[in-house]
Amino acid sequence: MFFDRFSSFFSNDIAIDLGTANTLVYRKGIGIVIDEPSVVAISTYNKKIIAIGTDAKEMLGKNPDGVKIIKPLKDGVIADFQVTELMLRNLILRAQKKRLLIKPRVLVCVPSGITEVEKRAVRDSALHAGAREVHLVSEPIAAALGADLPIHRPQGNLVMDIGGGTTEIAIISLSQIVVHISIRVGGDKMDEAIVSYLRKRNNIFVGIQTAEKIKKEIGSAYPLEKELKMEVRGRDIITGYPITVEVTSEEIREALAETVTSMIDAVKRLFEKTAPELAADIAERGVILTGGGAQLKGLDKKIQDTVDLPVHVMPDSLLCVLKGCGMILDNLEDYKEVLIRKIED
Ligand SMILES: Nc1ncnc2c1ncn2[C@@H]1O[C@H](COP(=O)(O)OP(=O)(O)O)[C@@H](O)[C@H]1O
Ligand SMILES: [Mg+2]
Repeated sequence: MFFDRFSSFFSNDIAIDLGTANTLVYRKGIGIVIDEPSVVAISTYNKKIIAIGTDAKEMLGKNPDGVKIIKPLKDGVIADFQVTELMLRNLILRAQKKRLLIKPRVLVCVPSGITEVEKRAVRDSALHAGAREVHLVSEPIAAALGADLPIHRPQGNLVMDIGGGTTEIAIISLSQIVVHISIRVGGDKMDEAIVSYLRKRNNIFVGIQTAEKIKKEIGSAYPLEKELKMEVRGRDIITGYPITVEVTSEEIREALAETVTSMIDAVKRLFEKTAPELAADIAERGVILTGGGAQLKGLDKKIQDTVDLPVHVMPDSLLCVLKGCGMILDNLEDYKEVLIRKIED
C-alpha cells in the first residue's frame, strides 16, 4: 500500500491513445504531454527516423525520394509493425522527462478490431521501450469513459468514435462491449472524397492536406444556417498550372454525402444486432459522438434526422479517448474489468 502511494508519487506511468490519425500521451499527475499526428518520416537509405508527428505530417506530399512518409496505422489496424514500434518507443521515451528508478506502467488504447498478433506487437514494443507493465484497453471503452458515460451500470450506452481510419460504434453495458461495428470509413475517406470530387467537378487537383483543411473549415453533413465558401489552390487538371477556385459548403457536402451515409448505415446495422432492452436504453439516452470526425459540422443533426435518436457531440471529442485512458491509468485497480484480458502468447 505504502509502496503503491510512494510509486505513484514518483510515477512515470503513461497512457497512450494510439490513433490512426493522432497519437496522444497522458502522463499520470501531469496531463497531456504529447499530441501529434501518427506520421513518421523515414530515410529510405538507412531506415532511420527523420521526423515524427507534426514535422513528419508537414512533409507529406513534399518529400524527396530519399524520404518515405509512413502512417503506420491504417484503417484501424497496424499496417506497419516496425514503424509502429519505433513510434511507440519514441513516445514512451519522450513522455518520461526524467528516467526514474521505477519503470513506468503503460496503458495503450488500441482499435477494437486489433488481432492477437497486433496486441502482442504493441505490448512487446512498450516492454522494449522500458515499460514494467503494459495494459491494453479498446477504443470504444476508453471513449465512453472519457465521455463520462456510466459504463459500469447494466444499461446500454452507445458511443460512436469517428477517427481518421475507422468509425467504431459500440454499445457498452456492465463495462464490456455488448455489440460492436467497426467500419474502415472515417476522416481520411472524407478527405479522399473531397480530392476526387474537386478533380471531377472543378477540374482541380488538390493534395490530401488541402482536402482536410477544406473539410474542417467548410465541410458539413447537414445544411448550414449560413452556407460558407473558401478559396482553394491546386493544380489545373488540363493545363497543369497552379490555379485558385472558389468552393462552397454545398459542394463539399455533396462530396461528403456518401461517406456520411455509410457511417449512418453502420449505426442502423448495429441496431439490427441489438437486443430490444438495450435498444430501448439507447432510444432514451441517444448516441454519443467522439473522435475528431465528430466535429464535422451538422453530423449530429444528420444522424439524428436519419435514425431518429438524440445525438450528442462531445465538445472535446478529439480528447475523449485519452481522457478515458487517463481515468483508467489513475485508478488501474478500480478499472481492471475494462482492460483487455491477458494477451495470448
Ligand atoms: N473540425 C473538424 N471537422 C471535421 N473533421 C475533423 C475536424 N477536426 C478533426 N477532424 C478529423 O478527425 C480525424 C482525426 O480524429 P482522431 O479522433 O484524432 O482520429 P484517430 O483516433 O484515428 O487518430 C481526422 O480525419 C481529422 O481530419
Ligand atoms: Mg481515436
